[in-house]
Amino acid sequence: MKTMLLSATAPETAAIAAEIIKKGGLVAIPTETVYGLGADGLNVDAVARIFEAKGRPGDNPLILHVTGADQLPVFCHDIPESAYRLAEKFWPGPLTIVLPANTNVPKRTTGGLSTVAIRCPKSEITREIIRLAGVPIAAPSANISGKPSTTTAEHVLHDHNGKIEAIVDGGPCSVGVESTIVDLTEERPRLLRPGGVTPEQLVEVLGDLVIDKAVTAQIDKDAVVKAPGMKYRHYAPQEPVVIVAGSREKAAAYIHNHFVPGDRVLCFEEELELYRDCNPLAYGREDDVATLSAGLFGALRILDDPTIHQVYARCPVGGGVAYAVQNRLKKAAAFHIVDAEAEL
Ligand code: TXA
Ligand code: MG
Repeated sequence: MKTMLLSATAPETAAIAAEIIKKGGLVAIPTETVYGLGADGLNVDAVARIFEAKGRPGDNPLILHVTGADQLPVFCHDIPESAYRLAEKFWPGPLTIVLPANTNVPKRTTGGLSTVAIRCPKSEITREIIRLAGVPIAAPSANISGKPSTTTAEHVLHDHNGKIEAIVDGGPCSVGVESTIVDLTEERPRLLRPGGVTPEQLVEVLGDLVIDKAVTAQIDKDAVVKAPGMKYRHYAPQEPVVIVAGSREKAAAYIHNHFVPGDRVLCFEEELELYRDCNPLAYGREDDVATLSAGLFGALRILDDPTIHQVYARCPVGGGVAYAVQNRLKKAAAFHIVDAEAEL
């Protein structure tokens, strides 16, 4: 199959993409977080093709992308008023809400769960495609399963050229890490994945938030977890990644002590000079965390190279969007972190 590359700014793109979706095909769609691999979320055969193209385990559910909160009762029931407050404040935007699923949502889409994850993306073209298709679009991140997510159309082409009908090129994703996921099916709201909407912002609206254990620690692959995707090894380049925590000076001393040829350093732009002998790659500026979230997956893709022996990574500290960057980097490192302040 020849994969069509459609520009988000061409007037006919939304109609072409919607037509492919309606016929059960696969279209990679731009969003503000990452590119998604989209199909008709109510068509089990189309959804099956997503799992096949990604090599995704069948128990890992997909997010349904909709055009607004008015669609919540179409696909969900027992919707708390807090869901509407979140949608009002953060949609369209990088927030996914988990709610009890109506029976019209196929089990193939929810990975067999009785709940469904719903999000309204910011990208205008993507919302237009959903509107024209007349169905919710199920879309996981468009990477091959286990690989760093796709934040440009080139990343999607690299992973799926010849396997999907089309890619809508909307340029690089502005947030760069996947949406925040909050589960509203229990008594207390639970953060399943941090993202562009921060825990602080959620607490402001919800007044309460439990942080799921999958956010902060490595989960055993046989464990029962709320977000099945969180237990799989993720975002990971082929070689081991270790996060070196601590002050700029202590971290540089640790890395210089341990660095051998074949290793690489993933650092902040401000640190490039410090690591000039250690084959550094910067993913953004420490003093502007939005550049770190936007640049992380692209950098991890460059580092996904079998000739590299080991990657030493620098990670931003603090809350806000830095919390999401920490989560993705820790997962890429399988939670392998050394404290440069403690050991040299
Ligand atoms: O930003 C995003 O959310 C992107 C773009 C394309 O919208 N999509 C995305 O999808 O990141 P994916 O499939 O790569 O990650 C979805 C996560 C997985 O960890 C999955 O297990 C979880 O959401 N999830 C989906 N449905 C769920 C549900 N009903 N309950 C709990 N977790 C769910
Ligand atoms: Mg993903």
